[in-house]
Amino acid sequence: MTAAGNKVQDHYAIEGIAARILAALRAAGGSEAGPITPDALAPLDHFHGRGLKATKETVALLEPLSGERILDIGGGIGGPARWTATHFGCHVTSLDLTPEFCRAAEELNAATGLSDRVRVVEGSATDLPFEDDGFDRAYSENVAMNIDDKRRFFAEALRVLRPGAVFAFSHYGAGPKGEPDYPLTWAAGPGTSFLCSPEETREQVLTAGFEIVIFRDKTEEVLPDLRENRRRLEEHGLPPLGLQTLMGERIGEYQINAARSADEGRLSVLEALVRKPA
Ligand SMILES: C[S@@+](CC[C@H](N)C(=O)[O-])C[C@H]1O[C@@H](n2cnc3c(N)ncnc32)[C@H](O)[C@@H]1O
Repeated sequence: MTAAGNKVQDHYAIEGIAARILAALRAAGGSEAGPITPDALAPLDHFHGRGLKATKETVALLEPLSGERILDIGGGIGGPARWTATHFGCHVTSLDLTPEFCRAAEELNAATGLSDRVRVVEGSATDLPFEDDGFDRAYSENVAMNIDDKRRFFAEALRVLRPGAVFAFSHYGAGPKGEPDYPLTWAAGPGTSFLCSPEETREQVLTAGFEIVIFRDKTEEVLPDLRENRRRLEEHGLPPLGLQTLMGERIGEYQINAARSADEGRLSVLEALVRKPA
């Protein structure tokens, strides 16, 4: 584990996540509380600003097929993995660096009856504990900002995919107009935030050996959602059911900072689909 890796874990580490999430869901549902499904959990376990909407966009690029072996790199507490396994009938391995997140992912898999379809593995995206060519597809949502060695991140993703398989990813990158405001969802300060421009990322992907299928700066497209989320947070505070259950009330400040920084050209949002040569 590198020193930067330890600091990344420190930013996210928080105990008792699954119990808090399940209690929040029960409290919100009251006597009407239905079964615990990936869709019911979605406001609480997709750990990125645009929530389930962003996961749907990434998975739409990925096009997973029933029965396939999918890898989620930096899967957090497993929300995107559970949602994908349920809606596409595939097996998802959720790999994450933060032990507390991996424990929460396992508990939420059990609570949703998905332990046989979603596997949780603790480890680093830059040293994947998997054999070569073992996955049919992979995706990664809002993880690369925490990774200094992006060449190794992409090289490892390429290594574990079977030839011809695709990797979909989306993350924040540097904007053209300077540094973002911290703290942000993924980092308290610039020491654990490694932001590249879209052009730098394109070069890293190609150097790793991927072919580019789709590669686009999505900033303008997501700005209306980020602005609306900021407006709601500033006018009404945190929603009753939201990511504060996972990260504490500090999440509101993180999301406002991200929205303001993106609005002012100090963050970009990248989306890509890349393919390992057949
Ligand atoms: C903003 S969260 C996104 C989680 C998840 N992808 C989602 O969308 O719900 C970033 C995640 O990246 C993980 N992470 C950061 N650096 C990592 C690394 N080197 N290897 C694996 N996971 C990492 C963190 O532990 C955290 O769970």
